[in-house]
Parts: sequence; C-alpha cells; structure tokens
Amino acid sequence: MHSQKILILLSVLTLLGCQTNIDNPRSVLCINDNWRFSLSADSNAVAIDFNDADWRTLDLPHDWSIEGDFAEDNPSTPGCGALPGGYGVYRKNLFLNNEDSAKQIFIHFDGVYWQSTVYVNGKKAGYRPNGYVSFEYDITPLVNFGEENVIAVTVDNTNLPNSRWYSGSGIYRNVYLKKLDKHHIDESDIFIYSTGAKSDTNNIKVDFPIQNNDETSITIYNPHGLKQFTNTFSNDSGYSITISTPMTNPIYWSPDHPALYRAEIITRHNGKITDVLNIPFGIRYFKFDPDNGFSLNGKSMKINGVCLHHDLGALGAAVNRRALERQLQILKDMGCNAIRTSHNPPAPELLNLCDSMGFIVMDEAFDMWAKKKTVHDYSQHFAQWHEQDLTDFIKRDRNHPSVIMWSIGNEILEQWHDINTDTLDIAQANLMFNFAAQISQDNAQSDSMHVNSLLAKKLAQMVCSIDPTRPVTSGNNETEPTNLIFRSGAMDIIGFNYHEYNWGEKFRQKFPGKPLIITESTSALQTRDEYIFPADTQYLWPERWDKPFFRSGNQCSAYDNVRAPWGSTHETTLKEYMKYPWVSGIFVWTGFDYIGEPTPYGWPSRSSYFGIVDLAGFPKDVYYLYQSQWTDKDVLHLLPHWNWNAGDNITVWAYTNADEVELFLNNTSLGVRKKSDTDALHLSWNVEYVPGTLVAVGKKDGRTFTDTVRTASDPAKIIATPDRKTIKADGNDLCFITLDITDENGVIAPNANNLIEFKVTGAATFVAADNGNPICHENFTKPVHSAFHGKCLCIIKSIKGQKGEITVTATSNGIKSAELKLKAE
Ligand code: GAL
Repeated sequence: MHSQKILILLSVLTLLGCQTNIDNPRSVLCINDNWRFSLSADSNAVAIDFNDADWRTLDLPHDWSIEGDFAEDNPSTPGCGALPGGYGVYRKNLFLNNEDSAKQIFIHFDGVYWQSTVYVNGKKAGYRPNGYVSFEYDITPLVNFGEENVIAVTVDNTNLPNSRWYSGSGIYRNVYLKKLDKHHIDESDIFIYSTGAKSDTNNIKVDFPIQNNDETSITIYNPHGLKQFTNTFSNDSGYSITISTPMTNPIYWSPDHPALYRAEIITRHNGKITDVLNIPFGIRYFKFDPDNGFSLNGKSMKINGVCLHHDLGALGAAVNRRALERQLQILKDMGCNAIRTSHNPPAPELLNLCDSMGFIVMDEAFDMWAKKKTVHDYSQHFAQWHEQDLTDFIKRDRNHPSVIMWSIGNEILEQWHDINTDTLDIAQANLMFNFAAQISQDNAQSDSMHVNSLLAKKLAQMVCSIDPTRPVTSGNNETEPTNLIFRSGAMDIIGFNYHEYNWGEKFRQKFPGKPLIITESTSALQTRDEYIFPADTQYLWPERWDKPFFRSGNQCSAYDNVRAPWGSTHETTLKEYMKYPWVSGIFVWTGFDYIGEPTPYGWPSRSSYFGIVDLAGFPKDVYYLYQSQWTDKDVLHLLPHWNWNAGDNITVWAYTNADEVELFLNNTSLGVRKKSDTDALHLSWNVEYVPGTLVAVGKKDGRTFTDTVRTASDPAKIIATPDRKTIKADGNDLCFITLDITDENGVIAPNANNLIEFKVTGAATFVAADNGNPICHENFTKPVHSAFHGKCLCIIKSIKGQKGEITVTATSNGIKSAELKLKAE
C-alpha cells in the first residue's frame, strides 16, 4: 500500500475510531493544518487571488475568542465570558490530484461558531448559521483537479451575545476533506438499531442506502473482534433497505461495560469496491418506567448525570479529544454515569468517548426555538433552519449507543405562552405565523391546541421519524401539565429543571403514567477552597433571579451552603433524588465550571461557580460528596484546609461513606461521628483552631481509611505533577500539569497566589494555563499565570511528528521552581 493510501486509511480510522484491513476507496483527510487567518479582513478576502501572505498561519481547531483579553465592555458581556467576538476569515490552499477527478469531493465541518460561509475558489459552497451542528458541502462542481484550490471560510460572530454561555468563535472543531467514489454510501443514511425491547436485541437492524445495481455486504464483529454476521444484499426496488442481523447472546453495552460492536459495510459497483464504512455501535435495551424509573439491560439504575457546557476551560471551545477524555475521567472517578450536552449538539469526539468510556447521554438540540433568550441568538434562524439542523443532528448521532434520549430543547420560552409578536422581530414573526398556519392545517384535529404545542409535537415527530428507538424529552421550567410543551403530548419522558419539591407524589398525581427525568438540578454555587462562615447557614445568592447581587471579593463558599434561588444545595438535591424510585435520574448543573454565567455576580466575574469541578479541572469539596454517594470506593474527605487564626471557630466537615469517623487534632480525639446519627450526607465537628494536623479515621466493614489536612507554613516551592508522563507526538495530545505551591514540607499553602512563569522546550509547546478563579483576568494563552488557593494548571501540547524529551519549568519569585521531564512518543 503506498503512503497516500496509508494516510487515507489512518484518517478513516481516526474518524471512526475502529479498525479495518480493507483497502478503502473512501478517503477522509483531516485538513486542520496550515490555515491562514485574519480578524481584520472583510468578505473580499474570499476571492481566489486575494493576497493573504501577511495573515497568521495556524492549525485548527481554533477559537479566537479564547486568545483575547477579558474586558468589561466586550459585547459578549460577562454572561458569555467577557471575551471578544468579531468577524474572522480563514483560508487554505488545497491541491487535488488529477486522479481525484473521478471522485465526488466533500468538505465536512464538525462545527463552526457561527454564521459561517464557505467558498471554494471564490464561489460560495454554502452558509450555515448554527454554530453547534456539523455540516458538509459537496464541492465537486467548484474544485479544479491537478491544481491548487482555495478554500475560504468567513465566520461572523460580531453581534453578541448570541448564545448562553461562552460559545467561542471560529472553526473550533475538526474539518475533513472527503474524496468518495460516485457510488459511495451516504453515512448519515445508515442506522443501526434495535427497538429497545430485550427480545429485539437478538435482532439488530441496519437501515442502509443502496443504489440500483450496487451490491452491499454487511459484516458485524462483536466486541471481541469476532465475526458475528455477514451477508450481501443487492437492490433493484428502491434506495433504502432494512435488514435484520441475528445476534446470539449479545454482549450488552452499559456504563460499567461499554462493549462496542462494529459494522463493516462494503459497497460494490460492477464488482468493484466503491466504499467501505466501519461504524461502531452497541447493543442495549432500556426502559423509563413511570413507577420504577430507569433500567438498563434489565437492571434498575439511577442516571447519575451532570450537565456539561461545551467549553474546555482555558482551551476555550477549540475541541481536543484528550481534554474531553480528561473531563470524563474526572467525572467517572466521581461516580457520574451520564452527561447532558447542555444545551447544544456536542463535538462528535464527546460522543465517541461516551460510547467507549461508558456514559449515558442526553443529547440536546436547542437552547431556544423562535423566542429569543439573548439579543442576537439562534431564534432569528430558527424558522428557516430548525428542520435541517435537527435532521442533521439526529442523523449524525443516532448510531451512538451512549445516546439514550433526545432533548428537543432547554427552557424553551414557548412552553409558557403563544407566539407574541412583541418579542419577535417582524421577519421572524411572519415566518413563525406562516409556519403555525401550516402546521395547523397539517393537523386538522388540533384546532384547540396551541401553536407552541404543535411546534413541540412537530419537533418530536421529526426526531421520531429519524430515530423511533429513543425517547424524546426537553428541559422545562414549568412543571405543571399546563406547560404548552407537555400539552403537546409528544414528550415520552417528562423532563424539568429544578423544583425538587415537585419530584414526589405531586408529580405522579399531575402526570399519571408518565416517566420523569430531572433534566437539570442543583445550581449550587462554590469557589474551590474558599470558605464562608457560618458553614451551616444557607446563603441564597442572589436572593431573587432578577435582582443584582454584590459581595466583596466575588467568591462563593466551598461548603455546600450557597445556592441560586431556583436551585438547591448538592446535599438537599441528592437526598430528595434518592427518595423517589420513579425519578429516573438527575443532571446536576454542572459537572465542570464553564466560561460565562458568573451567577450570582457580574463583572469582574467571568466564569461560573456552578461546577462540581472548577474551570481548571480541580475538584471542589462537593466532588467527594458525590464520590461518597455514587461509588463503592472508600471515600473520606475533610474540609476546610487548616490555615486559620488561632482561636477561630472552624466547622470541619467530612464527606464519607464510612459508617463512622473519629477526628483527631494533634493526636487528641475530637470525637466520633456516626452516619446513623444524622440525616445529613456529611459529618461535622466544631473545632477551635490551633495549628497542626487534623486526621480523620473512618471505619467501614472492618476497614479503616483516613484523610489528613495540615497547617502549611510559608510558600517555599512549586511541585509539578503531570497527568501523564508520556504523550503522543501527534500534535494534538496534551499533558495537564498541576502546580502546587507548597511549604518546605510539601503541604499546599491554601492562600498562595504566586505568579508562575512556564517554559516548555523540546517536543511540546505551551498551550494554556488556568487556576480556576472565576474573577482572574489573566489571559489563558500566555505562559504566565498566578496560582489560586495554592494551585495552578499548565497545559502543553505535543508537536506533530516530533518525538523525544519535553522539559517544563515553572518558576516563581522567591520560591523554589519545579522542573519536569516528560516524553512524546
Ligand atoms: C438553568 C438554565 C441553564 C443555566 C442554569 C443556571 O435555568 O437552563 O442554562 O442558566 O439555569 O442555574
């Protein structure tokens, strides 16, 4: 096999995440390298002969907002992260061989934020306003073979805010060039499924397109790589056929055992192979039961989920597989088994990882329909684009076993009132009214139904027509049956956000026979390692959602004692949630902090306080509350740190699943606390502070486990700990390095905020740094960053093709620096 084919094959493998041995005529090349970019060009820059010689050269994925500086007057507002937007143009030269002229050429974008227009050799290939969906264009008629072609992409993210929350700007996901035989298979038409009942898992169905006179063979490999089924089909009666493939003793996919099958689909035309596709899939059956909640493969289980917004902290929106994997690993360790892609279609890499690492996914399409939530948002495009966006989204994601339910929207304003022209501009209102008239006609019996209910029904029916195997839900604020989305009758699962006082019998009375999912819960507020006393008092910040809130320092408390008025503390939520068997699961708002929505504050805050884990990926204390409830590990975690003023009265909490814990201060017992003596999900002691060592000793089933916090003396050194010592020399792989500012004995100095300078040499480069502080305005992409509560994160990236040693140094005035030796292979 010559080198180009090897490359082609490798790209296919990367895209599909699995292996094949067949020489594949399908070429899918990742074309992220060597784009030229300008933030000061206008639309003339798409011309074929435009001189871009002085533009910056960069590799995708790229998010220009994250490179900018935080500023109060950035039009994005703190709600979207107070980072800049703008109008950006990307250009790339692309050589196509003469031998490609027999092929059909597509350019595929996993996501561009937003309002992108793609030009090939100066001619428009297409426009896509939605910044979260994947899309592609057939550019065969626009390209020249045997010469260079110019791809230009304009991205208009000038009018802000247009999303909740930080969106990023630019070509922030991967881009592929596909060269396909004219007799290729359209992969979005392939659907591999069973209907959801156990009996059906013995019979996996495959829908696939097939052209007249073509022949398609389908082979299914089980998770051990063994051939399970193979057969060849031809078609002279239509474009699409459905086959049943018998599966004996299927190996089920689940979060604990994410077993993946693989379907290899080969098409031949006149005996010659014209396409090969490998599609991973999983076999599982599940039920949302009105009485007993969720079960997977016959086993009852709770969906212990979190909402994730799409940004990757200091990396911004620019997608990176390893960064996503790290987030999921941290969440898996916490016992989380499910992700809600709030509130938009995620990067395909996230779903691939959820498939292979074992997470249940609630895949969400929209954060608004035609009624706007922010001034310039998708509502302006909804009427014209929702059908295409929804269709492309469901078709893209429906083969992922991790996806268990679809959400057609979050807190959609149409749930409350009928279309109101006051909140829509005229063009939008006209479109909606035409649309409303049309759907009323289509639905003769629904005169009494509201237009909004019809719209909900239409969206749910669209989903169902593309994927009848998964339930449809939506995240609602209004929990009454009068909710116009519920009134559509089209929600398979009733989904609402918050309102934990409505999860009990009240729910069953209002929605008899309906299953329930808590699409969003909690909204408690914490800053990592920041403690506000009294710890046992609950703070409602802000007091009302529409009232501004001020508090000097703009921080929240890491005791679980601050919440938004619509939410509840982590502990209250968990307790309520465990009470009712019919509550299928919850999605805690949020797993990780994200850029934007700094509730309860405004500027100078610029990122959220809602995360169980902070923006840099450092767990807050409540992380261990979940770990103690959601895992079987021995968990014992003490808070707060042990650096106070002599005589201070400090409330010490332990998150644990031990039956009892004894606390010692400088070897003197402060008493035993038993789980059986309290309703709380934490144990607590009131301690008069003296410096020294606090040790907790937990006992469970004859086992003993401990946690220790010590008083730190003055900051004396930096300790650097990488998440991995060896990374791949592929130009994408990352190493996440934690820098702890400690005293001479290695105890983290909890109040240290030293400025650290990073130097990276050898086979990697510096990418970003962060400290998890929601009010820090230091630029993420500069190699100088302060610590926050003794911690900082440095992210480095390998260089494509460069193997060898990597040296990272972290220095800070007045304390000992750290040096790390890592490797790229
Ligand atoms: C919800 C909303 C989320 C986020 C959250 C913060 O109402 O769906 O997007 O704003 O509140 O508590």
